Amino acid sequence: MQYPDYRPRRLRRTENLRRMICETKLDPGDFIYPLFLVTGKGVQKEISSMPGQYNLSVDKAVEMAKKAHGLGIPSVILFAIPEHKDEVGSEAWNDRGLVQQATRAIKKQVPGLVVIADTCFCEYTSHGHCGVMIKGELDNDASLENLQRATISYAKAGADIIAPPGMLDGFVGAAREALETEGFEKVAIMAYSAKYASAFYGPFRDAADCAPQEGDRRGYQMDPANAREALREVTLDIAEGADIVMVKPAMAYLDIVRSISDEVDLPVCAYNVSGEYAMVKAAAMQGWIDYDRVMMETLLSMKRAGCDMIITYHALDAAKLLG
Ligand code: PBG
Ligand code: ZN
Repeated sequence: MQYPDYRPRRLRRTENLRRMICETKLDPGDFIYPLFLVTGKGVQKEISSMPGQYNLSVDKAVEMAKKAHGLGIPSVILFAIPEHKDEVGSEAWNDRGLVQQATRAIKKQVPGLVVIADTCFCEYTSHGHCGVMIKGELDNDASLENLQRATISYAKAGADIIAPPGMLDGFVGAAREALETEGFEKVAIMAYSAKYASAFYGPFRDAADCAPQEGDRRGYQMDPANAREALREVTLDIAEGADIVMVKPAMAYLDIVRSISDEVDLPVCAYNVSGEYAMVKAAAMQGWIDYDRVMMETLLSMKRAGCDMIITYHALDAAKLLG
Protein backbone atom coordinates (compact mmCIF):
# COMPACT_ATOMS: atom_id res chain seq x y z
CA MET A 1 0.00 0.00 0.00
CA GLN A 2 1.20 3.42 -0.87
CA TYR A 3 0.06 6.99 -0.75
CA PRO A 4 -2.70 8.02 -1.27
CA ASP A 5 -4.24 4.70 -0.07
CA TYR A 6 -1.87 4.43 2.86
CA ARG A 7 -1.35 7.52 4.97
CA PRO A 8 0.88 7.04 8.06
CA ARG A 9 -0.37 10.33 9.46
CA ARG A 10 -3.77 8.73 10.18
CA LEU A 11 -2.28 7.18 13.30
CA ARG A 12 -0.46 10.31 14.42
CA ARG A 13 -3.56 12.45 14.51
CA THR A 14 -4.43 12.51 18.21
CA GLU A 15 -2.66 11.99 21.50
CA ASN A 16 -4.40 8.69 22.16
CA LEU A 17 -3.69 7.35 18.68
CA ARG A 18 -0.06 8.24 19.20
CA ARG A 19 -0.05 6.50 22.57
CA MET A 20 -1.46 3.36 20.95
CA ILE A 21 1.36 3.08 18.43
CA CYS A 22 4.15 4.06 20.82
CA GLU A 23 6.90 1.41 20.59
CA THR A 24 9.23 2.39 23.43
CA LYS A 25 8.39 3.48 26.94
CA LEU A 26 10.55 4.86 29.69
CA ASP A 27 9.91 3.96 33.28
CA PRO A 28 11.68 4.95 36.51
CA GLY A 29 12.40 1.22 36.80
CA ASP A 30 14.85 1.59 33.91
CA PHE A 31 17.22 3.85 35.82
CA ILE A 32 20.26 3.37 38.01
CA TYR A 33 21.39 6.48 39.88
CA PRO A 34 25.13 7.10 40.53
CA LEU A 35 26.27 8.48 43.90
CA PHE A 36 29.72 9.96 44.65
CA LEU A 37 30.82 9.36 48.22
CA VAL A 38 33.21 11.49 50.26
CA THR A 39 34.28 11.43 53.90
CA GLY A 40 32.64 13.60 56.54
CA LYS A 41 29.13 14.26 57.78
CA GLY A 42 26.41 16.42 56.29
CA VAL A 43 28.44 17.02 53.13
CA GLN A 44 26.54 17.75 49.93
CA LYS A 45 28.87 19.61 47.59
CA GLU A 46 27.83 20.28 44.03
CA ILE A 47 30.21 18.98 41.33
CA SER A 48 31.04 22.01 39.21
CA SER A 49 31.17 20.17 35.88
CA MET A 50 27.99 18.23 36.68
CA PRO A 51 25.37 20.72 37.89
CA GLY A 52 22.75 19.00 40.01
CA GLN A 53 25.11 16.17 41.05
CA TYR A 54 26.94 16.08 44.35
CA ASN A 55 29.81 14.72 46.35
CA LEU A 56 27.99 13.21 49.32
CA SER A 57 28.99 12.02 52.75
CA VAL A 58 27.50 8.65 53.68
CA ASP A 59 24.59 10.17 55.65
CA LYS A 60 23.64 12.41 52.69
CA ALA A 61 24.06 9.52 50.28
CA VAL A 62 21.50 7.57 52.29
CA GLU A 63 19.09 10.52 51.99
CA MET A 64 19.67 10.64 48.24
CA ALA A 65 19.12 6.89 48.00
CA LYS A 66 15.80 7.32 49.84
CA LYS A 67 14.82 10.03 47.39
CA ALA A 68 15.64 7.78 44.42
CA HIS A 69 13.74 4.89 45.99
CA GLY A 70 10.74 7.16 46.61
CA LEU A 71 10.69 8.08 42.93
CA GLY A 72 10.53 4.43 41.88
CA ILE A 73 14.19 4.07 40.93
CA PRO A 74 15.30 0.52 41.75
CA SER A 75 19.03 0.94 42.12
CA VAL A 76 22.05 3.12 42.88
CA ILE A 77 25.68 2.65 41.85
CA LEU A 78 28.32 3.79 44.31
CA PHE A 79 31.64 5.53 43.63
CA ALA A 80 33.99 6.81 46.31
CA ILE A 81 36.59 9.53 46.53
CA PRO A 82 38.73 8.25 49.41
CA GLU A 83 40.99 10.41 51.52
CA HIS A 84 43.94 8.08 51.20
CA LYS A 85 45.33 6.95 47.90
CA ASP A 86 48.31 4.65 47.39
CA GLU A 87 50.14 2.84 44.60
CA VAL A 88 47.76 -0.15 44.51
CA GLY A 89 44.53 1.45 45.72
CA SER A 90 44.28 -0.62 48.90
CA GLU A 91 41.54 1.60 50.34
CA ALA A 92 39.21 -0.09 47.81
CA TRP A 93 39.18 -3.27 49.92
CA ASN A 94 39.11 -1.59 53.32
CA ASP A 95 36.02 -3.06 55.00
CA ARG A 96 35.43 0.33 56.59
CA GLY A 97 35.82 2.22 53.30
CA LEU A 98 33.23 4.65 51.98
CA VAL A 99 31.51 2.29 49.54
CA GLN A 100 31.34 -0.41 52.23
CA GLN A 101 29.91 2.04 54.81
CA ALA A 102 27.38 3.44 52.38
CA THR A 103 26.34 -0.03 51.21
CA ARG A 104 25.66 -1.14 54.78
CA ALA A 105 23.77 2.07 55.58
CA ILE A 106 21.64 1.98 52.43
CA LYS A 107 20.81 -1.72 52.75
CA LYS A 108 19.70 -1.03 56.32
CA GLN A 109 17.76 2.19 55.79
CA VAL A 110 16.42 1.71 52.28
CA PRO A 111 15.80 -2.03 52.16
CA GLY A 112 14.95 -3.26 48.72
CA LEU A 113 17.05 -0.71 46.88
CA VAL A 114 19.61 -2.56 44.75
CA VAL A 115 23.15 -1.48 45.58
CA ILE A 116 25.77 -1.74 42.85
CA ALA A 117 29.42 -1.33 43.86
CA ASP A 118 31.62 0.06 41.12
CA THR A 119 34.77 -2.00 41.56
CA CYS A 120 37.55 0.05 40.05
CA PHE A 121 40.82 1.32 41.45
CA CYS A 122 41.46 4.60 39.65
CA GLU A 123 39.74 6.60 42.42
CA TYR A 124 42.00 4.85 44.93
CA THR A 125 45.41 4.85 43.26
CA SER A 126 47.92 7.68 43.51
CA HIS A 127 48.66 7.38 39.77
CA GLY A 128 44.97 7.31 38.76
CA HIS A 129 45.14 4.14 36.68
CA CYS A 130 42.59 1.34 37.12
CA GLY A 131 44.89 -1.17 38.85
CA VAL A 132 48.47 -2.02 39.67
CA MET A 133 51.16 -0.32 37.55
CA ILE A 134 54.36 -2.21 36.82
CA LYS A 135 57.04 -0.49 34.74
CA GLY A 136 54.61 2.14 33.50
CA GLU A 137 52.01 -0.38 32.38
CA LEU A 138 48.80 -1.53 33.97
CA ASP A 139 49.60 -5.06 35.13
CA ASN A 140 46.71 -7.34 34.37
CA ASP A 141 47.21 -10.28 36.66
CA ALA A 142 48.39 -8.33 39.71
CA SER A 143 45.29 -6.19 39.40
CA LEU A 144 43.03 -9.25 39.35
CA GLU A 145 44.05 -10.26 42.87
CA ASN A 146 43.14 -6.83 44.19
CA LEU A 147 39.88 -6.94 42.29
CA GLN A 148 39.03 -10.14 44.16
CA ARG A 149 39.81 -8.46 47.48
CA ALA A 150 37.59 -5.49 46.67
CA THR A 151 34.80 -7.71 45.31
CA ILE A 152 34.65 -9.72 48.53
CA SER A 153 34.77 -6.61 50.68
CA TYR A 154 31.77 -5.10 48.83
CA ALA A 155 29.89 -8.39 48.90
CA LYS A 156 30.45 -8.65 52.66
CA ALA A 157 29.06 -5.14 53.07
CA GLY A 158 25.90 -6.31 51.32
CA ALA A 159 26.25 -5.15 47.71
CA ASP A 160 23.78 -6.87 45.39
CA ILE A 161 25.83 -6.33 42.26
CA ILE A 162 29.55 -5.93 41.64
CA ALA A 163 30.52 -3.84 38.62
CA PRO A 164 34.17 -4.17 37.59
CA PRO A 165 34.93 -1.43 35.05
CA GLY A 166 38.66 -1.77 34.55
CA MET A 167 38.52 -3.56 31.16
CA LEU A 168 41.28 -5.92 32.26
CA ASP A 169 41.35 -9.41 30.82
CA GLY A 170 39.77 -11.99 33.09
CA PHE A 171 38.20 -9.41 35.44
CA VAL A 172 34.75 -10.94 35.34
CA GLY A 173 36.00 -14.50 35.81
CA ALA A 174 38.18 -13.47 38.73
CA ALA A 175 35.30 -11.66 40.43
CA ARG A 176 32.93 -14.59 39.85
CA GLU A 177 35.45 -17.09 41.21
CA ALA A 178 36.03 -15.01 44.32
CA LEU A 179 32.29 -14.67 44.95
CA GLU A 180 31.70 -18.41 44.55
CA THR A 181 34.63 -19.37 46.77
CA GLU A 182 33.59 -17.05 49.56
CA GLY A 183 29.92 -18.04 49.56
CA PHE A 184 28.50 -15.02 47.76
CA GLU A 185 27.00 -16.92 44.86
CA LYS A 186 23.90 -14.69 45.00
CA VAL A 187 25.86 -11.54 44.19
CA ALA A 188 25.51 -10.60 40.52
CA ILE A 189 28.14 -9.16 38.21
CA MET A 190 27.47 -6.26 35.91
CA ALA A 191 30.35 -6.28 33.44
CA TYR A 192 31.54 -3.05 31.89
CA SER A 193 32.04 -5.17 28.77
CA ALA A 194 32.28 -2.60 26.02
CA LYS A 195 33.87 0.36 27.72
CA TYR A 196 35.50 2.77 25.32
CA ALA A 197 38.47 5.06 25.93
CA SER A 198 36.23 8.11 25.74
CA ALA A 199 36.59 11.85 26.21
CA PHE A 200 33.01 11.84 27.51
CA TYR A 201 34.31 10.77 30.95
CA GLY A 202 35.87 14.19 31.56
CA PRO A 203 33.45 15.55 34.19
CA PHE A 204 33.43 12.21 36.06
CA ARG A 205 37.19 12.36 36.45
CA ASP A 206 36.79 15.75 38.11
CA ALA A 207 34.01 14.43 40.31
CA ALA A 208 35.82 11.26 41.33
CA ASP A 209 39.33 12.67 41.15
CA CYS A 210 40.50 9.73 39.06
CA ALA A 211 42.25 11.13 35.97
CA PRO A 212 45.51 9.30 35.22
CA GLN A 213 48.55 11.34 36.30
CA GLU A 214 50.44 10.13 33.27
CA GLY A 215 49.29 8.58 30.02
CA ASP A 216 45.74 7.53 29.27
CA ARG A 217 43.51 4.46 29.40
CA ARG A 218 43.86 3.34 25.80
CA GLY A 219 45.93 0.33 26.87
CA TYR A 220 42.84 -1.18 28.52
CA GLN A 221 39.69 0.62 27.36
CA MET A 222 38.47 0.10 23.80
CA ASP A 223 39.13 2.16 20.70
CA PRO A 224 35.98 4.15 19.77
CA ALA A 225 36.53 3.01 16.18
CA ASN A 226 35.76 -0.64 16.98
CA ALA A 227 32.38 -2.34 16.88
CA ARG A 228 33.11 -6.05 16.33
CA GLU A 229 35.55 -5.98 19.23
CA ALA A 230 32.66 -4.97 21.50
CA LEU A 231 30.87 -8.21 20.70
CA ARG A 232 34.03 -10.17 21.39
CA GLU A 233 34.39 -8.48 24.80
CA VAL A 234 30.76 -9.20 25.61
CA THR A 235 31.11 -12.85 24.59
CA LEU A 236 34.15 -13.25 26.85
CA ASP A 237 32.42 -11.63 29.81
CA ILE A 238 29.38 -13.84 29.41
CA ALA A 239 31.62 -16.93 29.31
CA GLU A 240 33.31 -15.70 32.50
CA GLY A 241 30.02 -15.37 34.35
CA ALA A 242 28.60 -11.88 33.76
CA ASP A 243 24.92 -11.45 34.66
CA ILE A 244 24.48 -8.08 32.95
CA VAL A 245 26.61 -6.58 30.19
CA MET A 246 27.20 -2.89 29.69
CA VAL A 247 28.01 -0.46 26.93
CA LYS A 248 29.69 2.81 27.90
CA PRO A 249 29.31 5.63 26.91
CA ALA A 250 25.78 5.49 25.52
CA MET A 251 24.82 8.38 23.25
CA ALA A 252 27.61 8.11 20.70
CA TYR A 253 27.54 4.28 20.94
CA LEU A 254 23.91 3.37 20.28
CA ASP A 255 24.95 1.22 17.33
CA ILE A 256 26.90 -0.90 19.82
CA VAL A 257 23.93 -1.07 22.18
CA ARG A 258 21.77 -2.25 19.29
CA SER A 259 24.14 -4.93 18.05
CA ILE A 260 24.78 -6.29 21.52
CA SER A 261 21.11 -6.41 22.44
CA ASP A 262 20.44 -8.21 19.15
CA GLU A 263 23.22 -10.73 19.68
CA VAL A 264 23.04 -11.67 23.35
CA ASP A 265 20.22 -12.73 25.61
CA LEU A 266 21.57 -11.25 28.83
CA PRO A 267 20.22 -7.92 30.11
CA VAL A 268 22.05 -4.95 28.60
CA CYS A 269 22.87 -1.76 30.46
CA ALA A 270 23.83 1.54 28.81
CA TYR A 271 25.89 4.06 30.80
CA ASN A 272 24.75 7.61 29.99
CA VAL A 273 28.06 9.12 31.12
CA SER A 274 29.09 12.38 32.73
CA GLY A 275 30.06 14.23 29.53
CA GLU A 276 26.70 13.42 27.96
CA TYR A 277 24.96 14.77 31.05
CA ALA A 278 27.16 17.86 31.21
CA MET A 279 26.49 18.77 27.57
CA VAL A 280 22.74 18.59 28.00
CA LYS A 281 22.88 20.55 31.27
CA ALA A 282 25.19 23.20 29.89
CA ALA A 283 23.12 23.85 26.77
CA ALA A 284 19.95 23.93 28.87
CA MET A 285 21.50 26.40 31.32
CA GLN A 286 22.27 28.66 28.35
CA GLY A 287 18.63 28.43 27.33
CA TRP A 288 19.62 26.80 24.06
CA ILE A 289 17.67 23.58 24.48
CA ASP A 290 14.68 22.38 26.47
CA TYR A 291 16.24 20.30 29.27
CA ASP A 292 13.27 18.07 29.99
CA ARG A 293 12.60 17.21 26.37
CA VAL A 294 16.22 16.64 25.37
CA MET A 295 16.78 14.50 28.47
CA MET A 296 13.75 12.31 27.77
CA GLU A 297 14.58 12.00 24.08
CA THR A 298 18.14 10.99 24.93
CA LEU A 299 17.06 8.35 27.44
CA LEU A 300 14.38 7.08 25.08
CA SER A 301 16.94 6.66 22.29
CA MET A 302 18.94 4.34 24.54
CA LYS A 303 15.95 2.14 25.26
CA ARG A 304 14.98 2.19 21.61
CA ALA A 305 18.48 0.95 20.80
CA GLY A 306 17.65 -2.09 22.90
CA CYS A 307 19.06 -1.63 26.39
CA ASP A 308 17.14 -2.81 29.43
CA MET A 309 18.54 -0.35 31.95
CA ILE A 310 20.39 2.96 31.99
CA ILE A 311 22.90 4.32 34.47
CA THR A 312 22.15 8.02 34.37
CA TYR A 313 22.71 11.24 36.29
CA HIS A 314 19.29 12.30 34.96
CA ALA A 315 17.59 9.52 36.95
CA LEU A 316 15.91 11.73 39.56
CA ASP A 317 14.87 14.41 37.05
CA ALA A 318 13.51 11.86 34.59
CA ALA A 319 11.71 9.80 37.25
CA LYS A 320 10.03 12.99 38.53
CA LEU A 321 8.75 13.75 35.03
CA LEU A 322 7.53 10.19 34.54
CA GLY A 323 5.86 10.10 37.95
C1 PBG B 1 36.42 4.47 36.47
C2 PBG B 1 35.18 5.00 35.88
C3 PBG B 1 35.05 6.03 34.94
C4 PBG B 1 33.68 6.20 34.75
C5 PBG B 1 33.03 5.27 35.54
N1 PBG B 1 33.97 4.51 36.22
C6 PBG B 1 36.06 6.90 34.33
C7 PBG B 1 37.10 6.30 33.51
O1 PBG B 1 37.09 5.14 33.12
O2 PBG B 1 38.03 7.07 33.23
C8 PBG B 1 33.04 7.23 33.87
C9 PBG B 1 31.64 7.55 34.21
C10 PBG B 1 31.15 8.82 33.65
O3 PBG B 1 31.83 9.54 32.90
O4 PBG B 1 29.99 9.15 33.98
N2 PBG B 1 37.10 3.52 35.74
ZN1 ZN C 1 39.03 2.95 36.73
